[in-house]
Amino acid sequence: MPSDLIPSWIRPVSRTGEVSVIHISLAPDPDREQYAVSWLDAEELRRWQRYKVDRARREFALCRATLRYLLCQQLGCKNADLAIVAASDHGKPYAVLCGRTVSAKFNVSHSDPHGLITIAEGVRVGIDVEAGLRKRDFDGIAEMVFGPNERAEIRSACGVKKASLFFRYWTLKEALLKAAGTGLSADLTRMELPWSVRHGASTGVFQSPDDPMIRWQLQDLSTRQYTAAIATEIVHPASSHTSPPAC
Ligand SMILES: CC(C)(COP(=O)(O)OP(=O)(O)OC[C@H]1O[C@@H](n2cnc3c(N)ncnc32)[C@H](O)[C@@H]1OP(=O)(O)O)[C@@H](O)C(=O)NCCC(=O)NCCS
Repeated sequence: MPSDLIPSWIRPVSRTGEVSVIHISLAPDPDREQYAVSWLDAEELRRWQRYKVDRARREFALCRATLRYLLCQQLGCKNADLAIVAASDHGKPYAVLCGRTVSAKFNVSHSDPHGLITIAEGVRVGIDVEAGLRKRDFDGIAEMVFGPNERAEIRSACGVKKASLFFRYWTLKEALLKAAGTGLSADLTRMELPWSVRHGASTGVFQSPDDPMIRWQLQDLSTRQYTAAIATEIVHPASSHTSPPAC
């Protein structure tokens, strides 16, 4: 099995300062999946085996192997020394090297056939991708997860415009949730996206409604193939970074 298969299914999307975004092709390919599985540790292997749906197994294996590959490059470490862990079943995963949490942060999103990974040095990041504009009860879901202005804007749009607006808002908000790592515990109706971003700007700053000191840089990463967004923590320049631990 070739040792350099991973570069054949990834391509860089963007790099802004110390934050990079990488696209992963998740199209079915047994050779790629078999190679990806060889990167997983025992716990990840058990999780991969538990997936009943082929698509979910493939998404997990390819994204997790790519994440390990990228972290090894960034940290200059061996895959065997790296663990990807989470505080709970629904907790945000983070990397541990030789038993110590590393300062590099990451986030992963997959929506067949697209995966996105963001890796950043020292700042929290969240990413979300949605492939296609799958039909849903857009107005009904908007009532639960969008603020009053967002709901009104989605209600007044029709057809494909309604679907694309919904998924644009959805991915931007999900990127924020994933950056903070709070999952579903946040009240999303209080988290309205900035006016400029809702009206077409590809970047903007979101300020937490609970703590004005917490601010996130939002960026729309959508292409013709998928809708996607990234949220990056804005930190005070004086904040210091720590180096990865030596094993
Ligand atoms: C964790 C959560 C954010 C994942 O979202 P998803 O759309 O199902 O899946 P994605 O493909 O985007 O992301 C999955 C990845 O997120 C990461 N993840 C898991 N828990 C996470 C958390 N608490 N915070 C951030 N990232 C998390 C994992 O790396 C996971 O991939 P893996 O299991 O292969 O390692 C989801 O469980 C959740 O809470 N969603 C909120 C749903 C919602 O109401 N959204 C409204 C937006 S308006």
